Amino acid sequence: MIPRVALVGAGGHGISHRRTLKDLEGRGVLKIAAFCDRNPVEPEPGVPFFDDHRDLLEAVRPEVVIICTPPHTHLPIALDCLAAGADLLLEKPPVTTLDEHARLAAAVRESGRRCQVGFQALGSAALGRLCAATAGSTEPVSAAGAWWRPDSYYRRAPWAGRQATFDGALVNPFAHALMQALVVADGFEPVLMELERYRTREIQTDDCTFLRLTGADGRTIVVAVTLASEVFVAGEIQVGEAVLEYPTDRLRLGADAPFEEIPGRIGLLENLLSGAALIAPLERTRTFTVVAEAIVAAPMPATIPPGELGPHPEGGGRILPGVHELVRQVAATGLLPSESDITWAVAPHRVSLQQAKGVSDAQAEHR
Ligand SMILES: NC(=O)c1ccc[n+]([C@@H]2O[C@H](COP(=O)([O-])OP(=O)(O)OC[C@H]3O[C@@H](n4cnc5c(N)ncnc54)[C@H](O)[C@@H]3O)[C@@H](O)[C@H]2O)c1
Repeated sequence: MIPRVALVGAGGHGISHRRTLKDLEGRGVLKIAAFCDRNPVEPEPGVPFFDDHRDLLEAVRPEVVIICTPPHTHLPIALDCLAAGADLLLEKPPVTTLDEHARLAAAVRESGRRCQVGFQALGSAALGRLCAATAGSTEPVSAAGAWWRPDSYYRRAPWAGRQATFDGALVNPFAHALMQALVVADGFEPVLMELERYRTREIQTDDCTFLRLTGADGRTIVVAVTLASEVFVAGEIQVGEAVLEYPTDRLRLGADAPFEEIPGRIGLLENLLSGAALIAPLERTRTFTVVAEAIVAAPMPATIPPGELGPHPEGGGRILPGVHELVRQVAATGLLPSESDITWAVAPHRVSLQQAKGVSDAQAEHR
């Protein structure tokens, strides 16, 4: 039987899921069952549309649902879909707290359904190569990325630019960087988080984030990302001399080696439908959720003084000149901005993650 797949959240990033759905339907892998969105979206001929996911579930009973709504809305929709007997492709970040993670994991177990999380870069053959080449390493793992998002990015949706709805450079657009770093540092158990969050504009969350995690074994993961850069750094995961540019699957295993594109990405939806072991099962995102929850619970980000900023050459907002070099410097040295000569930097927020994890473990045992 060809599985019928529905999409909840068919605007925004849902458009890329619509492309995948059309492609897989064209190849006879699935049938597009229905779309749902709170707002009107471009209709798809022959595909029923609903403005409430509960109506969709009742009317269509799809075998699989893709959930691509804002992060703070994921849990109730996911629970309803599981209760209706559907497998899930749930966009990242899957949920906003470890408590929600435990509730969703329990529902997945009890329903016997499968839940794949939208960390598509985990399906990359290049990541597999990097992990194989660095297995057993105790060297620090780092991630660096520098993108540009104009002010209009934060006006596209009511939840954008608000920490209360789980937006922020590292918990949303650069969530993949954190997730990739955690996977490369296989078995990493964070016990300490040191975090510096900054904003270059009037938003209620960060657009420049610097994070150092220390693991139970003393290993560190450092992640430095920005959305206020004129110069583009796609996203680099580094262990020793090995570097993976995770959005493009380009890999370099030695300092003098050239970057090589490693083809072979398994699509998350195809993987889910195939019945094979999941690439990004919910349980694999637990440590990510520990860290993401702690990031969002941190005090509001510091504002970078306007005098440090300059206009983006194409308009649309301001950039922090040289921030692409700063993210690479932090990744290379493991020193946060406040620990180097950055005048606008403020002391990091330090929090034990052991305690958060212990509380959640205890809660999970009581379920
Ligand atoms: N995997 C990736 O690379 C990637 C890239 C971008 C976004 N995302 C994730 O996709 C999700 C959506 O992000 P976005 O940027 O597209 O957001 P968005 O706000 O631009 O779009 C979300 C869509 O969901 C709809 N929606 C909101 N609440 C709904 C509800 N309760 N029921 C039905 N529809 C609802 C909105 O009307 C909108 O069309 C987030 O979890 C985000 O992190 C993942």
